[in-house]
Amino acid sequence: MTQPTVLIIEDEESVRTALARRLAMSDCQVATATTGKEGMNRLKSAPVDLVLLDYRLPDTDGLEILATIGQEWPDTLTVMMTAYTNVDLAIQAIRLGAYNYVSKPFSLDEMMVVVDKALEAKRLRTEVERFRATEQDASGFGRIVARDPHMIEVLNLLRNVAASEAKTILLQGESGTGKDLVAKVLHYNSPRADRPFMNITCTALAETLLESELFGHEKGAFTDASEQKKGLFELADGGTIYLDEIGDMPPPLQAKLLRFLEEKAFRRVGGTVDIVVDVRIIAATNKDLRNLVAKNQFREDLFYRLNIFPITLPPLRDRPQDVPILANHFVEQFKAEFHKQMTGIDPAAMAVMQAYAWPGNIREMRNLIERAVLLTGGGRLTIDSLPAELLTPAIIATGEPESDPEPLIVLGPKGVNLALLEQRLVEKALEHAGGNQSQAAQLLGLSRDQFRYRLRKFGLLKAAAEEPA
Ligand SMILES: Nc1ncnc2c1ncn2[C@@H]1O[C@H](COP(=O)(O)OP(=O)(O)OP(=O)(O)O)[C@@H](O)[C@H]1O
Ligand SMILES: [Mg+2]
Repeated sequence: MTQPTVLIIEDEESVRTALARRLAMSDCQVATATTGKEGMNRLKSAPVDLVLLDYRLPDTDGLEILATIGQEWPDTLTVMMTAYTNVDLAIQAIRLGAYNYVSKPFSLDEMMVVVDKALEAKRLRTEVERFRATEQDASGFGRIVARDPHMIEVLNLLRNVAASEAKTILLQGESGTGKDLVAKVLHYNSPRADRPFMNITCTALAETLLESELFGHEKGAFTDASEQKKGLFELADGGTIYLDEIGDMPPPLQAKLLRFLEEKAFRRVGGTVDIVVDVRIIAATNKDLRNLVAKNQFREDLFYRLNIFPITLPPLRDRPQDVPILANHFVEQFKAEFHKQMTGIDPAAMAVMQAYAWPGNIREMRNLIERAVLLTGGGRLTIDSLPAELLTPAIIATGEPESDPEPLIVLGPKGVNLALLEQRLVEKALEHAGGNQSQAAQLLGLSRDQFRYRLRKFGLLKAAAEEPA
């Protein structure tokens, strides 16, 4: 808070101007409003640190505004200005969340003491929040936000692997599922944490450059090699090397990596001596490595060598319980970053996010919420700030989408009925599978039991062909 912003909501002109002048002198940004409505508009337009609020306003009473501020802009502090006779009112204001009150008439000095204290409190609060955010940040497992059982299971696995002696770890998962994040957390929670973490993307460089980048080269090894150079493997000794997009590693390098994994030794490009280092390799890919092996694009022996500790990060659509907690996490993150005062996510907007398939996974959600927070002035994030593709999803592909003119989600003013949507999906899957429960379950990514549970829940059991359990 370099220069705090103070909003004065006061209809009495003499008080308003005197306060404004005095606050401007003590290096505050001052905004003024003569009515409750004007004050609200100012609050909506940009963040305010402190509001000096008159109780008696021409269009509304100050307590009402105070309550709204508490709800919509919880980070804003309010000092109530009340007539000195009305002690009850002052107490009520404090109960409603006012930081303090000042009885009228007051001297400017008196008011400034209260203002200074309020701004100091506000500054401390911000600092504490920032501290908490960064402390949690640095490296801990706390950075991986997770609640869904699928992801909790993965987290347990990660904890065990991080602390283990495992020298190779294979991270698989669609784009945006958190592989980079997990690789870092694994390193900083391993016994190697005080040694280097080296990150290289196998697609980023041409084959020869990649080889020299990884393994180093001797002087004169190739035209540009005027000096001997150590590669990442040597520099990372004792630490971790993160090989991103391992599926794109050129075959000759795959052979060299395999030799390293088997013998812990390699040679610099143009070198004749074996160099032995101790590094942990975390390889990541969003491709199906088995598939690449089948197509002869990835060495089978290297695949098996890497696949000793495989960890698959599930796509976001397979961890539905993570959607609300991640969404709230990103709202918190971006509201702090953009100095927005927001109170979370509107239930209708949350329902839409929960119904969406997130093809770009957590990265997509993060980007989307970043944009939504930027678009939101204060209060809750609503469906208005979500992009259109979320609101008209083709949730289930039962052949040609055109053959189904009925929209799956109808967003009325009250949002979307998630239970009804679920029922429709179950019905459609069943219809598509010609009444075959196992097939219908598969279409929805559910087990047969999970599917039958829903049939029972929606009273659809009779509609489905009876099958032996
Ligand atoms: N569980 C999580 N909790 C909090 N943030 C997450 C989580 N998973 C991913 N993220 C964030 O989502 C974004 C995308 O994640 P990341 O870059 O790790 O994905 P990736 O799997 O490496 O994707 P790609 O295959 O495209 O490289 C990052 O900003 C990351 O910090
Ligand atoms: Mg990545």
